[in-house]
Amino acid sequence: MGLKVIVLAAGKGTRMRSKRPKVLQSLAGRPLLSHVVERAQAIEADDIVTVIGHGADQVRTAFSGQAVSFCEQTQQLGTGHAVQQAMSVIDDEDTILILYGDVPLTAPETLKDLISLVSDQHPLALLTMTLSDPDGYGRILRDAHHQVQAIVEQKDATPEQRQCKEVNTGMMAAQGRLLKSWLTRLSSDNAQGEYYLTDIIGFAVADGYEIATTEPQSLTEVLGINNKAQLQTLERLYQREQAEKLMAAGVTLIDADRIDVRGTLSVGQDVTLDANVQCIGSVTLGDEVTVESHCVLKDCTIEAGSHIAAFSHIDGASVGSHCQVGPYARLRPGTQLAANARIGNFVETKNAQIGEGSKVNHLSYIGDAQMGAEVNIGAGTITCNYDGANKHLTQIGDQVFVGSATQLVAPVCVGEGATIGAGSTITKDAPAHTLTLSRGKQISLKGWARPVKKASETKK
Ligand code: UD1
Ligand code: CA
Repeated sequence: MGLKVIVLAAGKGTRMRSKRPKVLQSLAGRPLLSHVVERAQAIEADDIVTVIGHGADQVRTAFSGQAVSFCEQTQQLGTGHAVQQAMSVIDDEDTILILYGDVPLTAPETLKDLISLVSDQHPLALLTMTLSDPDGYGRILRDAHHQVQAIVEQKDATPEQRQCKEVNTGMMAAQGRLLKSWLTRLSSDNAQGEYYLTDIIGFAVADGYEIATTEPQSLTEVLGINNKAQLQTLERLYQREQAEKLMAAGVTLIDADRIDVRGTLSVGQDVTLDANVQCIGSVTLGDEVTVESHCVLKDCTIEAGSHIAAFSHIDGASVGSHCQVGPYARLRPGTQLAANARIGNFVETKNAQIGEGSKVNHLSYIGDAQMGAEVNIGAGTITCNYDGANKHLTQIGDQVFVGSATQLVAPVCVGEGATIGAGSTITKDAPAHTLTLSRGKQISLKGWARPVKKASETKK
């Protein structure tokens, strides 16, 4: 006896006007379907079977290697027909939970509630919702004793039935054995010529069972996505939820409506995030980290007390404690800043270790470099790491001072305590504790006069 989840995801999603199948449209940076699967995993389903159809190959590829199995519905003949395609995985003793691939934000607690209603007396349980505007949904029909009798689709409903505000969210849980028997009784004799899953409610009632129902805590949990406008609405609701969780964890958000978390964000104490910070992938922020506005933080770790100034972009990098980064800094993958390092404006780093207390404050590119502690890199310094075919390493010892506008042509070593004169092109190793420089001699020409504009040109 197990819990099996069947996710209906064969629909085309015509209203998305996209080449991608609907369930691959992204919410918070990942496919809609992955949100549904994550929630099914959270309730410890033994098996998650997704019914796919439109764009089936794309969906399989996107989820390859994940704990999801697929079955295919080649023609979309209705929700009941979709569940029929997964019939072979249903054992008599199973409890089956049916979810929709385009309803991504149902709380695991709500799903657990729904499943817990399933019993021998109530072999079928529905998640319903009362809406002020029920337009488009299947209506829940109840008798005088408040017992559910049937679900009627809007297109099949009488004007009187359409008045009903309790609707079918689509999610339901049922005993495997009975679900299978009801599925074999479906017909497509209705306004849409489809095999409606909802017809099984009528069968259950006819078989003498009472239908159990429950409602979710919030409307967000049952909102489905059909078009880009709904996708955007749900994105903002989801982001608001993330923001609430961060604030509950003690994070200061300057504007809770202008923050995006697309992945997982772990935070220490007294973290402050200013407006329009984006956290993508796996991001960890230590105690008292401050991130100013318009920063993009992707797959990175920032340790305690560091300050990231506005418009910085940190991707695949680790920032030690009490560092200062930005504004307008770009730390690319493989960047490691040791404690107290400083990276200033218009500095790009890649695959670079920057030692404790070292400073690269202005307009530099440091790539494929190992830099010791207490180094000072002057403005406009560039590591020339690429010869057109291969990348080479630049090594810079502790307490090196590099004058402005220097090019370090890798592979090259600058020894500990060395000083490089401004404007040098360093192509050979520079010895420790020594001044090295390479410059053309400065000359001044006496008697040289600036050119003057020709008379005809000045008239123009
Ligand atoms: C369905 C319900 C309706 C409910 C509404 C909630 C039925 C007959 N109606 O209506 O009572 O109020 O959802 O949103 O069940 N799908 C397939 N294969 C198909 C048809 C659909 O996989 O052949 C999938 C879709 O991809 C989608 C889900 O099932 O994820 C719902 O299908 P949709 O056509 O949107 O159902 P509605 O007509 O809105
Ligand atoms: Ca439909």
